[in-house]
Amino acid sequence: MMEKLKRNHIKPTIAAKNICRTFKSGHEKVHALKDVSIDINAGEVTLLIGRSGSGKTTLLNILGAMDTPNEGEVIFEERNIASLPEHDRDMLRRCKMGFVFQSIALISLMSAYENIDFALRISGYDKKQRKHRTQECLTTVGLANRANHRPAELSGGEQQRVAIARAISHKPKILYADEPTAELDTHLGLQVVKVFRKMAIENNIAVVMTSHDPNMVELADHIYKLEDGKIVSETFNEIKNEDSV
Ligand SMILES: Nc1ncnc2c1ncn2[C@@H]1O[C@H](COP(=O)(O)OP(=O)(O)OP(=O)(O)O)[C@@H](O)[C@H]1O
Ligand SMILES: [Mg+2]
Repeated sequence: MMEKLKRNHIKPTIAAKNICRTFKSGHEKVHALKDVSIDINAGEVTLLIGRSGSGKTTLLNILGAMDTPNEGEVIFEERNIASLPEHDRDMLRRCKMGFVFQSIALISLMSAYENIDFALRISGYDKKQRKHRTQECLTTVGLANRANHRPAELSGGEQQRVAIARAISHKPKILYADEPTAELDTHLGLQVVKVFRKMAIENNIAVVMTSHDPNMVELADHIYKLEDGKIVSETFNEIKNEDSV
């Protein structure tokens, strides 16, 4: 309880307020999110956990300005991003947010280095900046010594770490990851969450990830549990920083 009170003084990076999202499918209505309110803080990994169909992806998509709620607000940098025009939402996604998905989606013909360098080129970094930033990002995820490997020459966990390095290369304020560990075994999955925590702490990024795997709970700082479109619990972890990647 003390912990909760203490954290209430932190201004969240992004906050969802009373979100409802309903999908129409034929004559039926699916209430995917029912009055969901959550706070996402910088420097932490926030985990959205729940069974298949509980609303995790729907919530992540709304937080990431990829979808809009039927009711409620998403407050980011003093604005309700849910009501912004598509162009502004697009800019927000490109400049302030990073995304990692379950299917890793690296470019198979490019090395780890080139995958990140390419993303930075799209973001408008010049050649000299790109070299420095690419090396920095690979180092962050512990893969400086795999820079010249193509995805097929990397393990699943290493590939996911390259995807993470790429997603943070343009220095987003928030990193969203939908089931980033689903295709990894528990050990590799936990390693990926450790990378998220390291990045959250070192770069003061707010990381939001979804999972249905209870093993992930121990490594997240802040956990929201979803059931049938509702938040049923909010918990905090005190995690020691003894682990290295
Ligand atoms: N575009 C859509 N049209 C209709 N119903 C949808 C749509 N997207 C999601 N739903 C429904 O909304 C509910 C929540 O879906 P969501 O994808 O958010 O679940 P999830 O928690 O991410 O599940 P999973 O663990 O399987 O990825 C589900 O019942 C789903 O069938
Ligand atoms: Mg999902």
